[in-house]
Amino acid sequence: MSKNVLVISASPRKGGNSDTLCDEFVRGTQESGHHAEKTFLRDHQINYCTGCGVCNTTHQCVQKDDMAKILDKMVHADAIVLATPVYFYTMDGQMKTMIDRTVPRYLEIADKDFYFIVAAADTEQAAMERTISGFRGLTEDCLPNAHEKGIVYGTGAWQVGEIKSSPAMQQAYEMGRAIV
Ligand SMILES: Cc1cc2nc3c(=O)[nH]c(=O)nc-3n(C[C@H](O)[C@H](O)[C@H](O)COP(=O)(O)O)c2cc1C
Repeated sequence: MSKNVLVISASPRKGGNSDTLCDEFVRGTQESGHHAEKTFLRDHQINYCTGCGVCNTTHQCVQKDDMAKILDKMVHADAIVLATPVYFYTMDGQMKTMIDRTVPRYLEIADKDFYFIVAAADTEQAAMERTISGFRGLTEDCLPNAHEKGIVYGTGAWQVGEIKSSPAMQQAYEMGRAIV
């Protein structure tokens, strides 16, 4: 059965290293006959969560920006890819801001498969553990029945394009292609 895959690309650099890995993932996914859509967060206006608490009862955010649309896509996806550059050894602000804004409907993001794509200048995979741990704060600790299916570690990539000579490219492609 064809899956609906949502790729959320949080780098501020379109065509940057994590975004390029997203494209490889999407290429593999589409080759397997699934529907994949990449959402590049910088193309959207996503304000900070204000912690007002209104959504705890209404399940809607009082802010009128682009997050409601993205949240709807998350609720309707079968699989979600969260992609970020490593900034000071954790996820970047765009990704964290987006995650914080899932509050109105996060309990509806249920039974999903999750993939993580991370890019960093550091050459050690261990340098990405805080970033992955941050993602798991959402998926393992908050979302109902989330399944972590794979991680692409785009290590050793600093300048835009450096990821292209990394084995992470092939890994991203194959991970996308392996979606069943
Ligand atoms: C604000 C900022 C903070 C960064 N912090 C780290 C870091 O803590 N560790 C690291 O290995 N690389 C760090 N980098 C490098 C990026 O992770 C690296 O350039 C990565 O390839 C960016 O991914 P992107 O092209 O997808 O944006 C940082 C870069 C910036 C701009």
